[in-house]
Amino acid sequence: MNTIKIEDKEFEILLENENIAKRTRLIGIQINVDYESKCPIFIGVLNGSFLFMADLVKEITLPCEMAFIRVSSYKDTQSTGEIKEVFGLPADLKDRDIILVEDIVDTGFTLGYILKEVYKQQPASVKVCSLLLKPEALKAPIEELEYVGFEVANEFVVGYGLDYNGLGRNLNHIYKAKTVTAPLP
Ligand code: IMP
Repeated sequence: MNTIKIEDKEFEILLENENIAKRTRLIGIQINVDYESKCPIFIGVLNGSFLFMADLVKEITLPCEMAFIRVSSYKDTQSTGEIKEVFGLPADLKDRDIILVEDIVDTGFTLGYILKEVYKQQPASVKVCSLLLKPEALKAPIEELEYVGFEVANEFVVGYGLDYNGLGRNLNHIYKAKTVTAPLP
């Protein structure tokens, strides 16, 4: 199906699963080369990364470990800023090689916060592997962003782990929100 509807929004196909799988395989090969004779720990950021993480680690032939974290955000009533909290970060990351696995990097704020928390434990190295990147939305460059599946335009996407109002994570392909064109007068 090329067009789908979730609640009020219509979406059209952007990336087919076969395309995602091919790209994931290539990233896996690259990681296998880059981390030869190391034992990295893959840390998936829930919920969005669950499918990408599962497919990515199946391509990894290195000895490796896995963990998942969740980031919650809430508005601070004292300031305008958004406070984030990281749950489930393993406590033994000192001297480890870490690969953070994300579904999408948008503004990069979430990732920036996670990186700050991870560095507190003095790991040997930290790299980020994100399936999608919205370069136009990124607020500041992220040095650790080593592996990117696809760059996408600054538009809302759903499927293959990504949600719209909690829905659509189970979709096999990735879809983008259809732009509503005003009717001709
Ligand atoms: P950032 O902090 O702005 O980089 O946002 C990152 C998080 O926002 C991602 O991990 C997603 O959960 C969510 N997100 C950003 N853009 C999209 C999108 O287009 N579709 C679905 N979720 C998104």
